[in-house]
Amino acid sequence: MANEEKIALTGDRPTGKLHLGHFVGSIQTRLKLQNESDMSFYMVADIQALTDNSENPDKVRNNVLEVALDNLACGIDPKKTTMFIQSQIPEIAELTVLFLNLVTLARLKRNPTVKDEMKQKGFGEDVPAGFLAYPISQAADILFCKSNLIPVGEDQLPVIEQVNEIVLKFNSLYGETFQKVKPVLSQTTRLVGTDGNSKMGKSLNNGIYLSDSYEEISKNVMNMYTDPKHIHVNDPGNVEGNVVFTYLDIFDDNKKEVEELKEQYKKGGLGDVVIKKRLIEVLEKLIKPIREKREELAKDPKKVMKILEDGTKKAREIAKETMIEVRKAVKIDYF
Ligand code: TRP
Repeated sequence: MANEEKIALTGDRPTGKLHLGHFVGSIQTRLKLQNESDMSFYMVADIQALTDNSENPDKVRNNVLEVALDNLACGIDPKKTTMFIQSQIPEIAELTVLFLNLVTLARLKRNPTVKDEMKQKGFGEDVPAGFLAYPISQAADILFCKSNLIPVGEDQLPVIEQVNEIVLKFNSLYGETFQKVKPVLSQTTRLVGTDGNSKMGKSLNNGIYLSDSYEEISKNVMNMYTDPKHIHVNDPGNVEGNVVFTYLDIFDDNKKEVEELKEQYKKGGLGDVVIKKRLIEVLEKLIKPIREKREELAKDPKKVMKILEDGTKKAREIAKETMIEVRKAVKIDYF
C-alpha cells in the first residue's frame, strides 16, 4: 500500500482560547502544511475535551467556536483545510472501539504524556477510563482519514508513538490497512509562561492569548519574570531564564539588535522597562492582525459554524470509505 499522498491532520481540545504557546508549538506548522500537503484537516476535539471535562459540557461546547475562531484568525483557510468537529464523525468512535482491543492497560498507564497530565489534574487511580485511553481515540482521529503528517507540540510525541504501535498491530492482525504517521514539530516546541513556569497553560494563568488586547499584552509583559537580582538599571543582568529575552529570541525579527541588547543587559545599564516595552511592540505586531481578524469573524458565529458543518460533511464521507475497508479487514462486514 504505497501511498505517497501527504495528508495533514491536527486538532485542539476546545477548553479555552488559544495562546502564543499554541501558535509557536503547532499553529505555525499547520499553516505551512495546509499549503504543502495534498490534503489538510483541522479537528475540534470536543470528545477528547470531554474525557476530563465530563461534568462541564457547557465549557466544551462554548469553546468549539473559540478555537475555530483562533485558527481561522491565524490563517487556517477552509478552502484548503477541512475543518470539522470530532463528535460529529461517529466513525471515529467506531474505530476507537476496535483500537481499544489492540492496546493493554499497562501500556496506557505508561504513556508519559498521559502520566504527566494525570498528575497535573490530580487524578491518581480515579482517572476516567476515557481519559486514560485518549491516545487510542487520537489514533482514530488521525487514521479515519489516513492522515500521515501530524503537527503537534513536543508534549504529544509519546501519543503519536502510541498511534504508530496501533498501526503496526492493526496491520499485523488484519492486513496492511494503515500507514505509519509522522509528527511534525515546529522550531519552538515549548513556550515558557510569562511567570517563567516551564509551560504556558490555560490553568496556570501565565499565558498571552491570540485574542488579547494591547492593554492585556502590556500588562502581562510588564509583569513578566526577568532576573530577580537585576534590581537597579546599572546592575549586570542575567539573560538566561529571563522570560523577556526568551520571547525576544523567538518573536523579534531583528536578531542582531536582540544580541546587542543582551550584551548591554549583561554588562549593566539596560533597564527591564526598556526591553519590556520593546517586547510589547513585537507581540502587538504579531497579535494585532490576528485579533482584528478574529473580532471580524466573531461578528458572524453562524458563518463559522457553517464552515465546521460543511467540513464535517466532507470528513464524514472519507470516514465512511475508510470504515468499509476497516470492517472488511476485521471481518465484521456481514450484510
Ligand atoms: N491531544 C491534542 C492536544 O491536546 C489534541 C488532539 C486531539 C490532536 N486529536 C488530535 C492533535 C489529532 C493532533 C492529531 O493538543
